[in-house]
Order: sequence, then structure tokens, then C-alpha cells
Amino acid sequence: MRISVLGCGYLGAVHAACMAALGHRVVGVDTDDVKVKELAAGRAPFYEPGLPELLRDSVASGRLTFTTQVRQVHDPDTPDPAQHPTPTPTPDPDPMVHFICVGTPQRQGEYAADTSYVEAALTSLLPHLHPGDLVVGKSTVPVGTAARAADRIHEAAPGAALAWNPEFLREGHAVHDTQSPDRLVYGLPADPAAADRARAMLNEVYASQLAAGTPLVTCDYATSELVKSAANAFLSTKISFINAMAEVCEAAGADVTLLADAMGHDERIGSKFLRPGLGFGGGCLPKDIRAFMARAGELGADQALTFLREVDAINMRRRSRMVDLAREVLGGSFLGRRVAVLGAAFKPDSDDIRDSPALNVAAQIRLQGADVVVTDPAALENARRAWPQLQYAESVQETCESADAVLLLTEWQQYRELDPALLGRTVRSRHILDGRNALDPRRWREAGWTYRALGRPRS
Ligand code: UGA
Repeated sequence: MRISVLGCGYLGAVHAACMAALGHRVVGVDTDDVKVKELAAGRAPFYEPGLPELLRDSVASGRLTFTTQVRQVHDPDTPDPAQHPTPTPTPDPDPMVHFICVGTPQRQGEYAADTSYVEAALTSLLPHLHPGDLVVGKSTVPVGTAARAADRIHEAAPGAALAWNPEFLREGHAVHDTQSPDRLVYGLPADPAAADRARAMLNEVYASQLAAGTPLVTCDYATSELVKSAANAFLSTKISFINAMAEVCEAAGADVTLLADAMGHDERIGSKFLRPGLGFGGGCLPKDIRAFMARAGELGADQALTFLREVDAINMRRRSRMVDLAREVLGGSFLGRRVAVLGAAFKPDSDDIRDSPALNVAAQIRLQGADVVVTDPAALENARRAWPQLQYAESVQETCESADAVLLLTEWQQYRELDPALLGRTVRSRHILDGRNALDPRRWREAGWTYRALGRPRS
């Protein structure tokens, strides 16, 4: 298939590279020319395991190209109409599939999602659509966005169609999740002939995933949009549920990690996304539950989702509770204390710091008077740019030098494997706060550390 991917961020760049690796001919489009230059040179502009190799090989094979110009999606030689006013006849190429993979961040000062990037991507694409082309939305959008987009396509590019195909990939596992998804969801047009055509084109795009037995759910636009919002709302709820249990465990002197372990053995509950700790962050779950509440409110179904307010509140409370615990361990005040923070990314195996719980905690502690030094294996550059008031160090040793407390806030594998005896020689006081329940308390206590974690007994 000939494919274009509009938006080459965490979602689009991986999607483009994976589609090219499957043998499709792919052009990635992004308005950021620095990013496009990097990608065109076969280099990943962000940290994602497996992506550099995939990009390098696909770009070298010639199947994957990048441009800042949407007009070049069909033909890389299409001239700029501003410089060539007489229309140049374009050949009649094979129908293409155009994936929209741009972001839908939270609107400033509101819960609702900002869908302007989706609208802008579509606006830029419309004049270049050919009859038979299929536009495929992958961005997470408020329900109703697809129906509006389909109307716009119908008006401006008759003969082209729209499908909605939500993406469920996790950062840090994005290549695996794209190549071997849990399921595929196609939101198809109401017209049966258009739906058949769209389904056939998507089946060709995902031929290898389907051949491998990936379950496929086909539905209407609204259901496909809601599947994504509902899935992220469920995952957020599961995390906040176990974190609410951590609060109760703390009050009762119980251990939430053992509670989660015991609950997870029930197959109906399952242990995934039941890891208690500092809670969820990132560019998806927090803003998606808020956007979902806002959209339900617009539809008059706000009561159905009021529980998500509590999910959000439990999650945000984790961060302040972590700060309180650190202050308590330091004897009631941060003034004049040195605090080492391990982890800046919102989760391991990512350099994404959007709504990072780790950086939020680090910044709160700094505001309360401590000297805070942060380290991270991949996200330091992004963290420095967003939070210049914090101090940063490359190595764990340097970060923990003379620290009064060490906070593990993002559970990178190398932090899980730290040697407590060795690190004990670097710090001023052996206080470790395990924000992700990633360490073995016994091992740290045996090496002379005070070990504290949310929802676990003091000793
Ligand atoms: C999430 C969803 O998991 C994906 O399915 C979805 O496609 C994506 O959002 C999206 O909407 O694009 P992602 O944001 O990459 O993926 O990260 P997750 O792996 O879901 O983790 C989110 C946060 O929850 C992290 O801060 C993580 O540390 C935290 N978490 C996760 C917990 O605190 N406990 C858990 O048990 C699991």
C-alpha cells in the first residue's frame, strides 16, 4: 500500500516506521522541519526502544520518506502551487491511505481536548485527496470528531472516505504494540459500500497482523472513538483503585503490594495495571480522562463519568503524599536538605516528561526549600528544558552525592538493580523512598537504609 502519516510524534513516527517495515511505501509528514530532517536521516528524534533500527533500515530501503509538505503525499515531486500558479497535471496514482496521528492535548485552563491539530491536519490534506483515498484517524479524539471529519471529506473530496482506527500503543513498547497489537478496531462509514472499501483497504494495510490472528472489531465511528477513551479511563481507574487501597493500607498498617499481588491472582481482576505507587502521568491517561469527562458533559451524560473526577483526584494526591512522606523522613522540613531524585520520565523506557509524576514531586520539594538533583537515563534533556529550576546530574552517584534522602520515582531497570551497600557510601543519610514499589525493602533495610513507600508499613 501507499501510505502517508500526518504527525510524526511518539505515535506517528513509530506507525510510519512499522508500516514501512511491513513493506508499505510510506511518507511521513510533520510541520516541524528539525524533526523531519532527523527522521529523513533515519534517526529517531525521541527515545523509543527498537525505533532507531527500524527507522534506519526503512529509510535506507527507500520505502520510508519524510517531508514537511502535505502536497507531496501523493508525489514527492509536486511543485509548490504558490511558485507554479498553472496547475501541473498530476498522474492518477493508486489510492492511498492517509493516517492522522497528530496530538490532542488538554486545552489550556479546561478539561476538554484541543482537537485543532486534527482539524489542521485534515484541512491541509483535503486539497490533495484523490478519489478512492482513505483517511484514517488514529488520534485520541472526543466522540463526534470522526463524523465531522467525514462530512468535511465528503464535501471537499467526494470519492475519498474516512475510517477511525484508534491506537492502543504504550510508549516504551510502541514498536511491539504496533507490530503485534492486542486488537484492531475499525470505525467504518455508515454506507455499506464505503464501509466495505474502507475495510478492504485497512485489511491490506494490516495484512500481516490479521494473518497472525489479531482480533478485529469493526463498528461505527462513535463506538471506535469511545473504545479508546473507555480503555484509557479503565486503565486509569485500575491504577487509582489500587492507589486508593494504598491509602487505606497506610491507615490500617497493611501492605498494598501484598494486597495487589493477592488480588491479581484472581483472573477476573488480573495483576496488570495494578501496580501501586506514584500513579499515572504522561501525555495520554491524565488528559484523556479529563477530555472524556468534558465530552460526556457536552453530551448530557456527565453523571456517568463523575467517578473519573475521583480517579483523577486519587492520582494527583499520590504526588503530594510522596512529598509529605519525604518531608516526614527528613524530620519535618526540607530547608537546607539535599534530595536525590531517580527518574524524570513519566515511566521507564521513555524520554517523555509530559505530566511526569517524578518531575512534579521534584519541583514541589524544590519549592519547599530543598536542593533537588534529578537524574534519568533518557529524559534529562527534555526535563532540563521544561524544569530549568531543578538541578540535574548524569549519573546516579553524582545525583546521590551527600543526599539526605533518595527518591526512586521512575522505575528504570538500572534503578531497580542498584546496590544499596554501594550507594550507601555516597549519600549523607541512608533514606530511600520507593515511589514505584520497585525495590526489595529487606535488602535495603539490611544495608542500613530507612526504606519507605506509599501504602506499606514503616518497617
Ligand atoms: C497509555 C495506554 O496504556 C495505551 O494503551 C494508550 O495507547 C496510550 O496511553 C495512549 O493513549 O496513547 P502510555 O501513556 O504510554 O499508554 O503509558 P502506560 O504504560 O499506560 O502508563 C501510564 C502511567 O501509568 C505511567 O505513569 C505509569 O507509571 C503508570 N502506571 C502504570 C502505574 O502507576 N501503575 C500501573 O500498574 C501501570
